[in-house]
Amino acid sequence: MTKKLFLLPGDGIGPEAMAEVEKIIAWMNSALAAGFETETGLVGGSAYDAHGAAISDDDMARAMAADAVLFGAVGGPKWDGVAYEVRPEAGLLRLRKDMQLFANLRPAICYPALAASSSLKPEVVEGLDILIVRELTGGVYFGEPKEIIDLGNGQKRGIDTQVYDTFEIERISGVAFELARTRGNKVCSMEKHNVMKSGVLWKEVVAAYHKANYADVELTHMLADAGGMQLVRWPKQFDVIVTDNLFGDMLSDVAAMLTGSLGMLPSASLGAPDAISGKRKALYEPVHGSAPDIAGKGIANPIAMIASFAMCLRYSFNMVGEADMLDRAIANTLDKGLRTGDIMSDGCTQVGTSQMGDAVLAEFQALAG
Ligand code: IPM
Ligand code: MG
Repeated sequence: MTKKLFLLPGDGIGPEAMAEVEKIIAWMNSALAAGFETETGLVGGSAYDAHGAAISDDDMARAMAADAVLFGAVGGPKWDGVAYEVRPEAGLLRLRKDMQLFANLRPAICYPALAASSSLKPEVVEGLDILIVRELTGGVYFGEPKEIIDLGNGQKRGIDTQVYDTFEIERISGVAFELARTRGNKVCSMEKHNVMKSGVLWKEVVAAYHKANYADVELTHMLADAGGMQLVRWPKQFDVIVTDNLFGDMLSDVAAMLTGSLGMLPSASLGAPDAISGKRKALYEPVHGSAPDIAGKGIANPIAMIASFAMCLRYSFNMVGEADMLDRAIANTLDKGLRTGDIMSDGCTQVGTSQMGDAVLAEFQALAG
């Protein structure tokens, strides 16, 4: 059976990182008869330059028809002045919304070889393995009204709306509880019920849904600000964290940096399983951005993009063995002392994007070939 992958490398370092994944796909097709079919489209600033939109309707349709989308990164100073509706980020937000990718999985794993690159003490981050489950299609990112209005007295008012319905909270907490059962069996839900009505409802719904369906999983609740503090104080207390779109955006950046570099972390954005085929729409992307300052220099870290492809193997194609081997290949490459500039430390060998990609592929070939 063919597996349709739609590649959206995007802007900045996105295309360089994606090129390393394409090498892995090509090898899996020729050596493992994996049957991946790839098509490539434009998103972000590069789509704006070509079509005047952050993603064209045609590429949007191809994303909807694919088994999985691999996404690089969007944005850069070149597009700072473009209209809000067509800014690079609008392409990513449209993909999330139109594909209904409500569940964003952001694992923060500290590779042993990198414990020293974290800004925290090695004993705080060594062996860290947490998973942030971020709600991705609701909350203040998409709530209406969302506008700037003129008050007519020389003042303007900017409005965003934080809004959550019961079903949205239930389905994202269901994903978190299910995943917790496959790992440490603990979920911590984060909101701000002390100041926000949406937080009061979030906490109530998570607690009721837990009681009715997942009483075997350990559930705790934390205010999101305290959660941020606990993440940098003692992150290993957490297993799975479930939180809303905006808190998840911030907390996942904090969690990412615990591991040494934003250049290491993958993510998966999943929709609900289709009623008939059981398949989920899915998009996989590194947590890092387009890093315009280093784009085109061949020095970007491709590991987050490669690890995102490993998540794609795991969640979209149930290729768990291959996913495990690819993750192991990344760890082995780091164990051998290879580092891109962002994770470089004393005594290691600094390499560029394609050397890092080649080294991971070679380790993967040794494990899977
Ligand atoms: C992320 C990013 C996006 C977000 C931006 C690029 C719109 O920060 O995926 O975390 O805010 O969700
Ligand atoms: Mg973010």
